[in-house]
Amino acid sequence: MKIAVYGAGYVGLVTAACLAKMGHDVISADINPERIALLLQGECPIYEAMLPALLIEQCELGRLSFTTNLQDTIHDAQIHMIATGTPCLANGQADLSQVFAVAQCIAENIKQDGFVVIKSTVPVGTGDRIENIFSEIFNARKERFEVAVVSNPEFLREGNAVHDFLYADRIILGGEPDALLCLEQIYQPLTAEGIPVIKMQRRSAELTKYAANAMLASRISFMNQISWISTKVDADIEEVRKGLSADKRIGPAFLHAGIGYGGSCFPKDIQALMHTSKALDIDVTLLEAIDHINMRQKNWVAEQLMTHFKGALKDKRIGILGLAFKPGTDDMREASSLVVIERLLEMGSELFLYDPVAIPAAKTMFTEKSEKMSWCASIDEVLTHRLDALVIATEWPEFKNYPLALIRQSLEDAPLIDGRNCFDLEAVKAAKLSSYYSVGRIPLREVI
Ligand code: UGA
Repeated sequence: MKIAVYGAGYVGLVTAACLAKMGHDVISADINPERIALLLQGECPIYEAMLPALLIEQCELGRLSFTTNLQDTIHDAQIHMIATGTPCLANGQADLSQVFAVAQCIAENIKQDGFVVIKSTVPVGTGDRIENIFSEIFNARKERFEVAVVSNPEFLREGNAVHDFLYADRIILGGEPDALLCLEQIYQPLTAEGIPVIKMQRRSAELTKYAANAMLASRISFMNQISWISTKVDADIEEVRKGLSADKRIGPAFLHAGIGYGGSCFPKDIQALMHTSKALDIDVTLLEAIDHINMRQKNWVAEQLMTHFKGALKDKRIGILGLAFKPGTDDMREASSLVVIERLLEMGSELFLYDPVAIPAAKTMFTEKSEKMSWCASIDEVLTHRLDALVIATEWPEFKNYPLALIRQSLEDAPLIDGRNCFDLEAVKAAKLSSYYSVGRIPLREVI
């Protein structure tokens, strides 16, 4: 069966490439001509490890192709996977316009029975709404095909997307049992390797996706909340984390305190879940707290600098290492660094910024404020600017592995504000940094 994947963004492209890798005949369709032109030239429009080589490999094998021609794609395919974006509207609601536009296009052009598989993150009940779209359009067309609508949420992380798809913890399929049998066959190469399929009602599958992201975000906000207590009582959040991780009921994942979560998923999905809850008259205290703690945490860097310099940040020369919302991506959406930069610019600081891959994306977000911002090509270049302070906003490996002795040499008495706890406290003490602030650990200026 031919599989069409609509939307060539993170989820769509990775899904298309991985399904091709699993041996399927896949076409990736997107209405953005520049994006498809790049893909046809063998280039990958997003920064994602392993993806560029996989795209080329699968195109050369003839299992993957790209198009802007939605009509022909719809005619040819039996499986229609919707993987378009669902960004956040001003009121927190998920914007489903792209998902519905694709569904409508499929309904208007389909010429045979098939399956619609929703990969996009969509609120509970979206599958029902898509069924209604099909029903209405088939009525107007005065012809009808059997189209089963299935929810198959995606759990891949940016930066690990190909791995997360091919070695998923589980595959969630929501829909009528007969329809799920076909989807199970598609995933057979993965299930044969032991990846479990969990079948459920479609609404449960839709909710599972939001619940998973909210659960992960809650763990991060929980640790960030504990980090404030940890600093005040002179404990060490990294030791607390190890103590918690060893409890099998808790486990080690997503317990790193830091300057908050960002990206295109957690912030928007928490908002969307709040919106859904409010519409159902359900209390949102927990979701609000997750969000509130995260917003507060993004101000942590500015607060440490305010304390250190007693509020006088005007004309202070501050280096910022890391701009992307996390390592392994050039994605700047909801990155914590954006809040750090905004706050420091408001207070009149001069910034020297470096990220291994996200500078082009970051530049587009600060076109009007550039006179106080200098973009650097390396850590070394940042350190040549006689800094008053150095900030780490993203835990890229090259920052973690950078010799502390060299940082100490360049900073002299200036503080290092480590928003991602990249360094071991003993190593910082050994390097004799004069001031080191990290999340949930007592500042080292008082110890030295
Ligand atoms: C997240 C989920 O992890 C995926 O399972 C999901 O498929 C995806 O959203 C989505 O809905 O599409 P992603 O946004 O790529 O994936 O990034 P994560 O690795 O989850 O990190 C999110 C944020 O949490 C980052 O800013 C990261 O720095 C932060 N984080 C993560 C912490 O602050 N502490 C941690 O312990 C872990």
